[in-house]
Amino acid sequence: TSPKSSSYEIVTLTTWLLQQERTGAIDNEMTIVLASISTACKQIAALVQRAPISNLTGVQGAVNVQGEDQKKLDVVSNEVFSNCLRSSGRTGVIASEEEDVPVAVEQSYSGNYIVVFDPLDGSSNIDAAVSTGSIFGIYAPNDECLANVEDNETLDSVEQRCIVSVCQPGSNLLAAGYCMYSSSVIFVLTVGTGVYVFTLDPMYGEFVLTQEKLQIPKAGKIYAFNEGNYALWDDKLKKYMDSLKEPGDSGKPYSARYIGSLVGDFHRTLLYGGIYGYPRDKKSKNGKLRLLYECAPMSFIVEQAGGKGSDGHQRILDITPTEVHQRVPLYIGSVEEVEKVEKFLA
Ligand code: AHG
Ligand code: MN
Ligand code: MN
Ligand code: MN
Repeated sequence: TSPKSSSYEIVTLTTWLLQQERTGAIDNEMTIVLASISTACKQIAALVQRAPISNLTGVQGAVNVQGEDQKKLDVVSNEVFSNCLRSSGRTGVIASEEEDVPVAVEQSYSGNYIVVFDPLDGSSNIDAAVSTGSIFGIYAPNDECLANVEDNETLDSVEQRCIVSVCQPGSNLLAAGYCMYSSSVIFVLTVGTGVYVFTLDPMYGEFVLTQEKLQIPKAGKIYAFNEGNYALWDDKLKKYMDSLKEPGDSGKPYSARYIGSLVGDFHRTLLYGGIYGYPRDKKSKNGKLRLLYECAPMSFIVEQAGGKGSDGHQRILDITPTEVHQRVPLYIGSVEEVEKVEKFLA
């Protein structure tokens, strides 16, 4: 590592991105896309922190393609994210939880990256000022959906190409990250060279590097599941859940922690170890979480930190979406904890 220029060296996200560019881990177009995403997250952080003041709590009055009542901040965050990506000029296609279909970005004139995102995760927490977040993933441009639409092409054929361009396995991700809006605003990022954690310094509005090459503990006795769905789970899963409550040879059962925001529950799991799960159940045949912009980016991050992301039987990153908003069951966290639930489900 380069010698410290001074005893008090601050590495901002911008500095870090330029370092990654110099080592060839990312190119300068990706640098610009990631910088524009960090700007979107800072803007959303400011909006979230003042939501009750600026009348941005509560519902928008519309239902999104997920069938969810959109919160006002779901819509605003989606616009903030989309605008920052458009103005980067390096984004070819965006796919969002809050957009029915992926959108080709006309203003793209280079780079053409494909960005998938959940602009506001855990949005049901907003009105109670409980942790929320934004999740994103970045794929390399592919010729399925170049931004420049052929003039004689019909709109729905462009739409079809964009759907094809985003429906790729998480193993193709070049970068993934999230921003957590909590007691601190935390930006977590991987570009395939490990997991890096940045904390927003409100004194001057920059993300400052606070943890590098983060590794998730191999095991952890904390589990995060919505046990309200217990009655709807299949028997093998019930047996797993019951096993966590037995003292076992350590004499202590597991602890339950559930924030109701994937970003919050995942970030605690990444730092303390343990497991987050959103299983399928009798009502939600594929679980609740979306593969493209929730499960795949989080699985890329957890694998970069030495953890595991599974649908209960297979690696999340090996699953190719057949449609943009496809849902999959998710078990993610410490290797030993994910392998334990996989054994029960086998
Ligand atoms: P989103 O707010 O982006 O729709 O995601 C909500 C997800 C996830 O963040 C959270 O872990 C899960 O929904 C909570 O679901 P339940 O309320 O059913 O437990
Ligand atoms: Mn939602
Ligand atoms: Mn979400
Ligand atoms: Mn969301």
